[in-house]
Amino acid sequence: VSGAPEAVFTRDLRRHYPRITRGEGVYLYDDEGKRYLDGCSGALVANVGMGVPSVVEAIAAQAKSCAFAHMSVFLTEPAIRLAEHIGSRAPAGLRHVYYATGGSEAVETALKLSRAYFMERDGAPSPKSLVISRWHGWHGNTLGALSVSGHVPRRRPYGLMLPPAVHIEPCNAYRQPYGPEAADWDLRAANALEAAILCEGPERVAAFIAEPVVGAAAGAVAGTTRYFQRIREICDRYDVLFIADEVMAGFGRTGRYFSIEHFDTIPDLIVLGKGMAAGYAPMAGVLVHDRIYDLFAEKSGRFVHGHTYNGHAIACAAGYAVQEYMEEHRLVERAAVTGADLGRRLQALRKHELVGDVRGLGMMWGIEFVVDRAAKTPPPRRLDVSGRVTNEAMKRGVIVYPGAGGVDGVLGDHILVGPPFVIKDGEIDELIGAVDEAIVAVAPAVFATRA
Ligand SMILES: Cc1ncc(COP(=O)(O)O)c(C=O)c1O
Repeated sequence: VSGAPEAVFTRDLRRHYPRITRGEGVYLYDDEGKRYLDGCSGALVANVGMGVPSVVEAIAAQAKSCAFAHMSVFLTEPAIRLAEHIGSRAPAGLRHVYYATGGSEAVETALKLSRAYFMERDGAPSPKSLVISRWHGWHGNTLGALSVSGHVPRRRPYGLMLPPAVHIEPCNAYRQPYGPEAADWDLRAANALEAAILCEGPERVAAFIAEPVVGAAAGAVAGTTRYFQRIREICDRYDVLFIADEVMAGFGRTGRYFSIEHFDTIPDLIVLGKGMAAGYAPMAGVLVHDRIYDLFAEKSGRFVHGHTYNGHAIACAAGYAVQEYMEEHRLVERAAVTGADLGRRLQALRKHELVGDVRGLGMMWGIEFVVDRAAKTPPPRRLDVSGRVTNEAMKRGVIVYPGAGGVDGVLGDHILVGPPFVIKDGEIDELIGAVDEAIVAVAPAVFATRA
């Protein structure tokens, strides 16, 4: 082992990080020869797995021909091809890609673009600048994206630095607050948006942002069709843009190209990331509806924004090659079919007393832990159930993505399971076997404390 690891400022300085030297399909290999099945695709990023030759070749070819040309002056072929490809597969009217390099930067872009839209339309200074979002949703770690995020443990240290944002309740079937008789719980959750807009004043509200299927903050919590259609109605009624954050759930992850397609709703902006280049390059963006693009085109033509690496030529080439590979191998359809099978097998984990809920869509699944299933009581935070299950799974060579705080900001332990779409049958067995054993390993300590 060479090199001083402290040269890298890692997220947790006390943790041992295995050094990965190779990736192939759903597996990563470290320098000691240990193999890890990546059961969460990094953070639901590596949708096509590692080592896809056509993607590697596309990256090399682009690096050779032209690695970088600044988008304030130039366009490149891969930037145009990738945007066209995405626009041709997206819901009607969403056809223009503003490029970014990561999900948070793309969320910042969407927030600023909604503000800029109203300034273009109504003339500066339009008072429309406030963005409404949801508790227990996740939009990123930069200050603007964090301000609209509802992931309390990640917000709390930086609360004083965050620009104003308003949060409404989430749409979570398992944790809905209205009681089992409330058949209209999802509509009530959506109506919270109207109440918030009225309280803040519609003239001040620019946008509502939400994940159609919530990822990191709550663990694969899907909305409903009625919910998103009501959200759309409310946004239209009060002249508010609807931003769907598809950074995690987009590009086939849920078995549709975009997860909002499950809910028959057309947003004004879709935030893109992760699966766009599936980890082969940092790549993200905002997919913009015609009516917004056209307004800019008719008015000033300018969106005052931009970052150095927007539309980076190699990243765009990687993204296009990934999207082509997905198309050639029908990976969105495969995510739907394999995902249904994965979900069926994960449901069997409900046999454990520690498992309160197993939920998800396509290749995006969440397992929420409880200490009392009837009362849905979350485990005490100090037991760090999600972290322990994750560590036990990792000891068994399987990686999952832990999360906490999804119930009330402190309590609420879950893991996310979201392997690459190319995972094979036997690999699913290996993944579920390790999670099963990890839960068995953690449960005694949890229930011993209760007794
Ligand atoms: C829905 C969603 N939005 C935004 C982000 C932020 O993306 P990034 O970590 O690439 O900045 C994430 C990251 O997990 C995400 O899941």
